[in-house]
Amino acid sequence: MTPDYDQLINEIYTELKDAPDEGMVADYIPDLASIDRSKFGICLTTLDGAQNKIGDADEKFSIQSVSKVLSLALVFSQLGNKVWERVDVEPSGNGFNSIIQLEYENGFPRNPFINAGAIVIADMLVSLHEDPKTVFLEYIRGLCGNPDIQYNEKVALSEKSVGYGNYSLAYMIKSKGNLVNDVEEVLDFYFWQCSVEMTCAELAQTFLNFCETNVPFGHGNYMLTASQSRRMNALMLTCGFYDESGEFAFEVGLPGKSGVGGAIVALNPLKYCVSVWSPPLNKKGNSYKGMQALEMLTTKLGRSIF
Ligand code: DON
Repeated sequence: MTPDYDQLINEIYTELKDAPDEGMVADYIPDLASIDRSKFGICLTTLDGAQNKIGDADEKFSIQSVSKVLSLALVFSQLGNKVWERVDVEPSGNGFNSIIQLEYENGFPRNPFINAGAIVIADMLVSLHEDPKTVFLEYIRGLCGNPDIQYNEKVALSEKSVGYGNYSLAYMIKSKGNLVNDVEEVLDFYFWQCSVEMTCAELAQTFLNFCETNVPFGHGNYMLTASQSRRMNALMLTCGFYDESGEFAFEVGLPGKSGVGGAIVALNPLKYCVSVWSPPLNKKGNSYKGMQALEMLTTKLGRSIF
């Protein structure tokens, strides 16, 4: 029997809406610091097309690192396993912006979801496309089926103005010979990529593509095979939450990805995709309430991927 997802997300929303939130809004990107910390939305979509949503599920926010799954998917569809010659597929056990491991591992990032790995993926996109910003946006619009998705220039420029940590990562990678293009050009694309704005409903719709792990999916010429789609899910499970990936697998038990804008998207292959948005973040940079909401979901359902 199909669970009553609508009732479930209603229950979760009601239980958590006014619950204490120990999280802190990301303020290292100046334009994100002023966001209303009480925003809270959930959307759950199923493969039969049903959409269950509540709260601020139709409000746009900055998807930030959630975009790293989409940039990887685009590059993976073009380069196949060549991607793994420059980025590994191992959890890092370090923070999303850490540089320590990158130095002693010779500029070969642990995975494509930490900042260092996403910067190498951005470098590949800059090499592959004359206008990577347009190609990337069209790709997301295609996956979502929504031509209105946009970058937020203000957020991109705001992050760039203080992006010293990402500049350090990019120069370290460049010094080790794993960045082909100019640091400026690569980071310009990276900051724009992170600034994409979407709603919970749009995120859940976009990531529903990754749920269908038994068929190829993509947009235009950029198709992933079913096998590649399963691998994307494996990476989300093992690396999607940085040094909290183990905790997320333990508490929630779904592949997923977080972003410092407060979004988490997670999915149960062949069943559903769920996104939560709540801006305050825990110490690992993942949405405090988002983690709680998804733990409640798989507990109430009595099933995760396990
Ligand atoms: O590069 C950064 O720091 C941000 N644009 C993205 C980081 C992020 O979303 C980490 N996720 N939880």
